[in-house]
Amino acid sequence: MSFADAEKMRSATVLVTGGAGFIGAAISGGLADAFGRVVVVDNLHPQVHPTADRPVGLDPRADLRVGDVTMSATWDTVLADVHPDVVVHLAAETGTGQSLSEASRHAMVNVVGTTQMLDGLLRHQALPRRIVLTSSRAVYGEGAWKRQGGPLFYPGQRTNSILEAGQWDFPDSAPVAMAAEDVMPAPVSVYGATKLAQEHVLTSWAQSVDVEPVILRLQNVYGPGQSLINPYTGIMSLFCRLAKAGRSIPLYEDGAARRDFVLIDDVARAVVAGVMSAAPGAVPIDIGSGEQQTIARAAELIAARYGAPAPHVTGQFRQGDVRHAWADVSRAGEVLSWTPEFNLDAGVERLAAWIDDQPGVSI
Ligand SMILES: NC(=O)c1ccc[n+]([C@@H]2O[C@H](COP(=O)([O-])OP(=O)(O)OC[C@H]3O[C@@H](n4cnc5c(N)ncnc54)[C@H](O)[C@@H]3O)[C@@H](O)[C@H]2O)c1
Repeated sequence: MSFADAEKMRSATVLVTGGAGFIGAAISGGLADAFGRVVVVDNLHPQVHPTADRPVGLDPRADLRVGDVTMSATWDTVLADVHPDVVVHLAAETGTGQSLSEASRHAMVNVVGTTQMLDGLLRHQALPRRIVLTSSRAVYGEGAWKRQGGPLFYPGQRTNSILEAGQWDFPDSAPVAMAAEDVMPAPVSVYGATKLAQEHVLTSWAQSVDVEPVILRLQNVYGPGQSLINPYTGIMSLFCRLAKAGRSIPLYEDGAARRDFVLIDDVARAVVAGVMSAAPGAVPIDIGSGEQQTIARAAELIAARYGAPAPHVTGQFRQGDVRHAWADVSRAGEVLSWTPEFNLDAGVERLAAWIDDQPGVSI
């Protein structure tokens, strides 16, 4: 099968784990246009999904199988009649803060959920040609920094005593963009550690059985369709809900932490490009918006959109949060022929307009 051959793709099958979630629903239409069959395996986790009903954003052509990726029985049932040509592995526990107190749960879904899938694919002799994994910028932790004229260095984790002293940045140095070819992973959250383990498990397994691993390291994804009930993810949707309720948005640390907020529309195109591109290679690919923004600027934009009071700095902090994060997206342009299209202003407007249309949104 050639990914460039549209006729053959119409008889091909893509299997998407966690495909009923935020990113899964956003890619479901694009995948259903390209593939003859789209099968989604998702347990409709109650922390993400307000009801056990089929999510409205999931393309009607997707065949939803409700099941838990950590259970071998799920794979025995699904793979009895599905032989995927491509797998997109999205199913995950995604709460960075929550992963500190629920480490086993994160390891179970993110690591064991991956190994159960791989074991099932081999057990059923259902090896796909390619597995696309959505990894995270969390694998980099604080990333690499540079002193003027000096080499890159890895500052490690900001300890509680450093943060309690209000020392937010690493002195006399500046961070560099996250790029897999230049910056080594060094996670500072359990979530990040499980996502890195996922990458290593997938890459070592896939290359041993001649399956192509494609790894996308996503920055902060936001936009229409993101969970409005999950208290552990989605800072942009939380900011919108606070501002919509007329409240001042609280800013952790000094508000100057930088993030790369990338709109779901751009991410969906990147994931579909990861599925369809000829040979993206096994080196992880960084996906972001191409711009870095302070969290204060994002909050100010949202407050202005809703006519809410100005955001305020609280000085609070959260273990596992990193100071600055943004992606160098140049390699994604080369290997996926993909570039981001939306800037923060346009993305915030799209998110806010969608939230305004949702019934009964609360904080
Ligand atoms: N959204 C982001 O900002 C972001 C950033 C970096 C990486 N990612 C990665 O992208 C992927 C998808 O993220 P998302 O934002 O769509 O999250 P999401 O929570 O909206 O979707 C995850 C889906 O996985 C399902 N799921 C959870 N546990 C499961 C299990 N045991 N068995 C089967 N299904 C299960 C949930 O029901 C949900 O539908 C994840 O792997 C995440 O680590 C997301």
